[in-house]
Amino acid sequence: MIFQVSQYIKYKFNSIRSTSILNDDLLQLIRSLDKLELSPHYLEKYLKIRQSLLENHSMIEVTDFGKGSKFFTSNQRKVSSIAKVAGISKKNGEQLIKFVHQFQPQHILEIGTSLGLGTSCLSLGNPNADIISLEGCPETATVATSLLQESGLTNIEIKIGEFEKTLPEVTEKRKFDLIYFDGNHSYEATNRYVEICLKTKTPHTIWIFDDINWSKGMNLFWQEFKRKSIIKNYYENWNWGVVRLDG
Ligand SMILES: C[S@@+](CC[C@H](N)C(=O)[O-])C[C@H]1O[C@@H](n2cnc3c(N)ncnc32)[C@H](O)[C@@H]1O
Repeated sequence: MIFQVSQYIKYKFNSIRSTSILNDDLLQLIRSLDKLELSPHYLEKYLKIRQSLLENHSMIEVTDFGKGSKFFTSNQRKVSSIAKVAGISKKNGEQLIKFVHQFQPQHILEIGTSLGLGTSCLSLGNPNADIISLEGCPETATVATSLLQESGLTNIEIKIGEFEKTLPEVTEKRKFDLIYFDGNHSYEATNRYVEICLKTKTPHTIWIFDDINWSKGMNLFWQEFKRKSIIKNYYENWNWGVVRLDG
């Protein structure tokens, strides 16, 4: 928490905010989101899905993957509390729908489904895309599966299991235009996932890393990664690090 506060102060005073090359295509795409007037249908549907989770006070047993939680002391958790803590925020959810709508990726991978909030944004952004989402906790994934089915979002396949097992499987023969990295926010794990995912890139692949200021490890990962030679250009804000890979 202390790390996040000090990072946020630096961020606000602009010392760590930057984008790469002005007028690059990634920056244009991001800037176009402010002007985009998306049909209210998409945002209303997303807000309805979000609300249904916030009103779901049933308890589930959450499987922990080693990092523990900054917020929960027990693995018995209310769905509504998980949605508040781990789910994508209202503002970022709207931004993700718009991003996908503008970019129109056909093959999307999400690493970290949780209750399916981010997944619903990916699906609403492009209902014609094929989406694979990975989640390790079976009970959380069950809630996500029901929610997405009840919401009529049918272009999603959730694969349950530890990323160490599911990620090599789904990346073996597939290419992804968009990967949304949102699970296991540690330096080592994120570097490992990136290595595994490299073979899935297309000439126009974009990767989004959520929570780049969540921890020192995530921040270090991002500071190193955005300077790698495989990055054509990048954009960052407080939550997201976005890269277009060199095709
Ligand atoms: C931040 S949440 C995802 C939030 C979701 N993308 C959203 O926008 O609503 C991260 C999820 O990754 C899962 N996770 C973390 N480490 C994992 C691992 N090593 N293997 C499988 N799942 C893992 C957690 O169970 C959790 O549900």
